[in-house]
Amino acid sequence: MAPPDTAPPLSEAPYEGAIDRGLEGVVACTTSISAIAGTTLLYRGYTIEELAANATFEEVVYLLWFGRLPRREELAEFERRLHADMPLPPESFGWFHGLPTRVHPMDFLHAVVAGLSLHDPEANIIDDVASLRKSTRLTARLGTIVTAYHRVRSGQWPLQPAPGRSLAWNFLYMLHGREPSPEHVRDFDTCLILHADHELNASAFSARVTSSTLSGIYSSVMAAIGTLKGPLHGGANEEVVRMLLEIRKPSRVDAFLDEAFAARRKVMGFGHRVYKEGDPRAKILARMAERLTREAGVPELYVMSKRLEERMAAEKGLIPNVDFFSGSVYHALGIPVDLFTPIFASSRVAGWCAHILEQYRNNRIYRPRGRYVGPKDLRYQPIDER
Ligand code: ACO
Repeated sequence: MAPPDTAPPLSEAPYEGAIDRGLEGVVACTTSISAIAGTTLLYRGYTIEELAANATFEEVVYLLWFGRLPRREELAEFERRLHADMPLPPESFGWFHGLPTRVHPMDFLHAVVAGLSLHDPEANIIDDVASLRKSTRLTARLGTIVTAYHRVRSGQWPLQPAPGRSLAWNFLYMLHGREPSPEHVRDFDTCLILHADHELNASAFSARVTSSTLSGIYSSVMAAIGTLKGPLHGGANEEVVRMLLEIRKPSRVDAFLDEAFAARRKVMGFGHRVYKEGDPRAKILARMAERLTREAGVPELYVMSKRLEERMAAEKGLIPNVDFFSGSVYHALGIPVDLFTPIFASSRVAGWCAHILEQYRNNRIYRPRGRYVGPKDLRYQPIDER
């Protein structure tokens, strides 16, 4: 037997389990929140088409957190609590206005969520009741933070949310400073519904990994915000519209794609780890983008998108994902490009919270292995001999 202070030779130690780069196909937990099968997306058993056509975002949040659709009085009470939590707490005003305003709004969102956690006496309590209260606060406030940030950086005072109005109504109101049309509220609400959850996507997984250490909801949501920001995940919607604005007109799409293919550059808004035949959310958003870009006088955005879609399918076998048409929808609604991903976060926070709550209720810490492929058997060299 080896003496106790001698490590075993490394050849006996490395983990030899199967490697799944990017965890493709790995089932990491059970969940009853949402499911993807073929081209179908279900939230708690309801198809996304059914919910987008009939529900409100507030109803969907209730569904994701409590597992069933609310009765009328339950929804009224839930909306009352959610809407009451929309304003930022007064103690946040001082430091909120002291933060830099020339940063990406996702970084600002990240910082403000951290700041809010410092003022929340329940921040590190992880029982069900406190966790639901914090989920309500976070879901109610992310849109308020995003719109306030935009107004402050534009030299305007942030607006207070109007009581008794939905999260979608208030987002458009607090951003633009005028009452939105019922049609735009409905379209924006549908976007919030479409983005609310998506099984074990990268940001939901981040949230679950962080909460699996029994860290609090704020830390878990901050981990998720950081993950969503990347251009391979939620950040793609901004890149799509920047790409369309760079292409400028339908006649230039083919040359743009020829060059992207030659340079082996990714075309943002295409491809998906799970959907291979089509993303049901993109289909709904495509119809909305077609109508809204026409109404906003920028129909070429949709025409360019359709040509991109046609060639990406024919030549690369890749489908548009949720980020492809959402950018054109937001652009047509007059929303600045760098707010697209924060809007995604303002909706997906509902799904993150559902995942965090589910993780706490059936927790085991996530701790995969890595297979070591680095050097072995090195001896420590004194600093002057290196
Ligand atoms: N443009 C060009 N080629 C692509 C694209 C794309 N958008 N997406 C995938 N491919 C190619 C890859 O280069 C790869 O080719 P190869 O086998 O010759 O190397 C092949 O298709 C397989 O792609 P992977 O990168 O292995 O797919 P993966 O499942 O790892 O990644 C992802 C999925 C990240 C969505 C990827 O398709 C991508 O980067 N798309 C662009 C960014 C984007 O739109 N992200 C938003 C996704 S939806 C969301 O998160 C909300």
